[in-house]
Amino acid sequence: MDEELLRGLGLDEIILKSENRLRIHEELTRKVEECKRCRLYLRRTRVVVWDGSPFAPIMAVGEAPGRDEDLKGKPFVGRAGQLLTKLIKEAGLERSRDFYITNVLKCRPPNNRDPLPDEIKACSPYLEFQIRLIRPRVILCLGRYSSFYILGRTDNPPMKELRGRVHKTRYGIPGVCTYHPAAALRNPRLRDLILEDILRAKGVALGKSE
Ligand code: URA
Ligand code: SF4
Repeated sequence: MDEELLRGLGLDEIILKSENRLRIHEELTRKVEECKRCRLYLRRTRVVVWDGSPFAPIMAVGEAPGRDEDLKGKPFVGRAGQLLTKLIKEAGLERSRDFYITNVLKCRPPNNRDPLPDEIKACSPYLEFQIRLIRPRVILCLGRYSSFYILGRTDNPPMKELRGRVHKTRYGIPGVCTYHPAAALRNPRLRDLILEDILRAKGVALGKSE
């Protein structure tokens, strides 16, 4: 193919940009692997930084790695993750193409206990960096810790108040909150509500609603 034609189309710039984003992610993962900013580094098997596509329109943010994620080094690969993947498919989306997936914490808390405030604070620069790098069209918050962090809420509102609508986040990116998929494993009635919220995020990503 004619090189000048490619340059004219701006394609090599696009290729350079994609290589950059992937390279930046390799660098980010290396940094997190060295991280000792909170006590959770002591017991981690693997750090869990991201999965999906670094060019995705939807960024899903969970709480923290569980046992399966800690072993595999990827977010949402256990039972809750399988349900999430299924609901993404039901919404007519593809996890590996349409989603960039991460968590508030990059290391597993012992026995999956709740994240502590000082751990969230210590780990937050990584998530902040990811949001600025990916600049998604919408952030889908999975569960309380993610919703509170992304919305900057300190008043502990119940999830049923936060879900079901589109929020303005402090990043200037719309946010949709929903129940954590692990909660839907315990209470299957939440499944349809999560699907509804994924469809809501899809609508925002496609520019159909704000
Ligand atoms: N729960 C989360 O919040 N994140 C994961 O990656 C897996 C389970
Ligand atoms: Fe570092 Fe975050 Fe892991 Fe704590 S949870 S050690 S801050 S990467």
